[in-house]
Amino acid sequence: MEDDNLIVGIETSDDAAVYKLSEDIATIQTLDFFTPVVDDPYTFGQIAATNSLSDVYAMGGKPVVALNIVCFPNCLSIDILGEILKGGADKVLESGAVVVGGHSVQDDEPKYGLSVTGVVHPNKVLKNCGCKEGEVIILTKPLGTGIINTAIKGEIASESAYNEAVKIMTTLNKYAAEIISEHSISACTDVTGFGLMGHGYEMASGSKVTLKLYKDKIPYIGEAKEYADMGLVPAGSYSNREHLNGKYQLNNVDSWMEDILFDPQTSGGLLFSCSKEDGKIIMDKLQKLSVSSAIIGEVLPMGDKYIIVE
Ligand code: CO
Ligand code: CO
Repeated sequence: MEDDNLIVGIETSDDAAVYKLSEDIATIQTLDFFTPVVDDPYTFGQIAATNSLSDVYAMGGKPVVALNIVCFPNCLSIDILGEILKGGADKVLESGAVVVGGHSVQDDEPKYGLSVTGVVHPNKVLKNCGCKEGEVIILTKPLGTGIINTAIKGEIASESAYNEAVKIMTTLNKYAAEIISEHSISACTDVTGFGLMGHGYEMASGSKVTLKLYKDKIPYIGEAKEYADMGLVPAGSYSNREHLNGKYQLNNVDSWMEDILFDPQTSGGLLFSCSKEDGKIIMDKLQKLSVSSAIIGEVLPMGDKYIIVE
């Protein structure tokens, strides 16, 4: 599909579509929903909404309205659905947007998410490609939520691992987005199902550069190492690896770290590229937020691999 006003469509696997309405306003549209990652319905609602809102922030926008999308079985109490929707609504409220309706269908397995509409100035859209040689790469949330969620499903996650994962998954990317909006950012996305490597690859290939990531600088949930060593690795991690076969190189990376690099994230952080100078100032500001961020790599001229981790 082509349209002169379409700023971002499907070609670059970006986070959301962006359509220019006038010289100073464009709409951002996105939709995301999934099955529960935790048992508590209210927490699940918060996670799903935080994740759905994230793609608007990844495009440099501000969410304005959101619609619920719900699949729910008849056999469960409607109060559970109420809790899911309340969790979602509370996060939408925190984002500054409003829930304006939605749609539900009966289904055997519950699913929840939102279609979010955001706004952005047409010249301030953040795309997932455009990194320049010499820039730094910053990640605004620790990795490992896929591994922890697998441990939660297996009922062996420790309380602290559960709490840390929930905190990460329910932290809106709004706060990091507000910080980076004051700086010149050349590419931005959020880390979700394809993991750091998958989303990093999209950024590198779209930008025609190689990303060099520092394995010792990548933030992760401590227990993710332990659980990865126990083999609690989600299936998506292996498909993420297969998908990137031949496109990356790992130098002396332990297998648990490899699991973390490819771990599919739920409601992960922003991943972006900016100058070294901006990176320093942004990192100072990001330190004040409650989840950890780090400069995790740099942009090199395009080599024969899109990502090198060492
Ligand atoms: Co995204
Ligand atoms: Co998505």
